[in-house]
Amino acid sequence: MLRIAGLNTHYGASHVLQGVDLEVPEGSIGAVLGRNGVGKSTMMKTVMGLVRPSGGEVELEGHNIFGWAPHRVARAGVAYVPEGRLIFPDLTVVENIKVAERKPAKDWPVDRLFEVFPSLRERQGNRGSQLSGGEQQMLAIARALVSDPKVMLLDEPSQGLAPLVVRELANVIRRMRQEGVTILLVEQNMKLAEAVANRLHVMVKGKVVYSADPERFRDEEAEIRSRYLTV
Ligand SMILES: Nc1ncnc2c1ncn2[C@@H]1O[C@H](COP(=O)(O)OP(=O)(O)OP(=O)(O)O)[C@@H](O)[C@H]1O
Ligand SMILES: [Mg+2]
Repeated sequence: MLRIAGLNTHYGASHVLQGVDLEVPEGSIGAVLGRNGVGKSTMMKTVMGLVRPSGGEVELEGHNIFGWAPHRVARAGVAYVPEGRLIFPDLTVVENIKVAERKPAKDWPVDRLFEVFPSLRERQGNRGSQLSGGEQQMLAIARALVSDPKVMLLDEPSQGLAPLVVRELANVIRRMRQEGVTILLVEQNMKLAEAVANRLHVMVKGKVVYSADPERFRDEEAEIRSRYLTV
């Protein structure tokens, strides 16, 4: 569904993505782990077209989307939930969702979103700034879903959330997969990544250096952690 090959991105003279190879098959969840600053968010922004790549390939359902502008990538079926959520603090829950609805949602109309996110239904008239961190994250995901995406890019959704809320988040992520959304997840929370992903990848200095299914990953977890993930 989503295929990234040899992807390179620079910020000026700084060579951040140095040939990222990654595939996320249709209907699956791929998780990318990695220390701070290795380029995880840059990979998401590059796929979304928010940062210009300097080389490589990005394909969605076999179609080349490399170097496309963000609105075209979005229209092709990719939704992006940025690190830090970036919901609109002064808009209500419903308004936050509605601004992202380009055409009437077919798969994920507001009623259906409220089924998956019951806490948002209760808070629908509240402003973004009045929500808890967990509710803001759910809202950011709901806002991405209202565009009926094929692929969802989730950048560190568990950041700053309490363990109980992370568990709720894991359920929401699995539910989206059940409903046919293909997901690329970036996480520092290894347990969350392990709990939901069909395949786990580790990024070091702008490259994916390790990929495995959850069984093998669990077997090798201690080594992966000390080799690639601890500071
Ligand atoms: N707009 C930018 N201009 C210049 N350098 C940038 C920019 N954004 C990020 N960088 C640098 O690129 C590198 C990769 O950043 P990126 O945000 O992709 O890392 P990350 O893996 O998402 O880290 P984190 O775990 O902290 O979110 C870092 O060294 C960062 O300082
Ligand atoms: Mg990041």
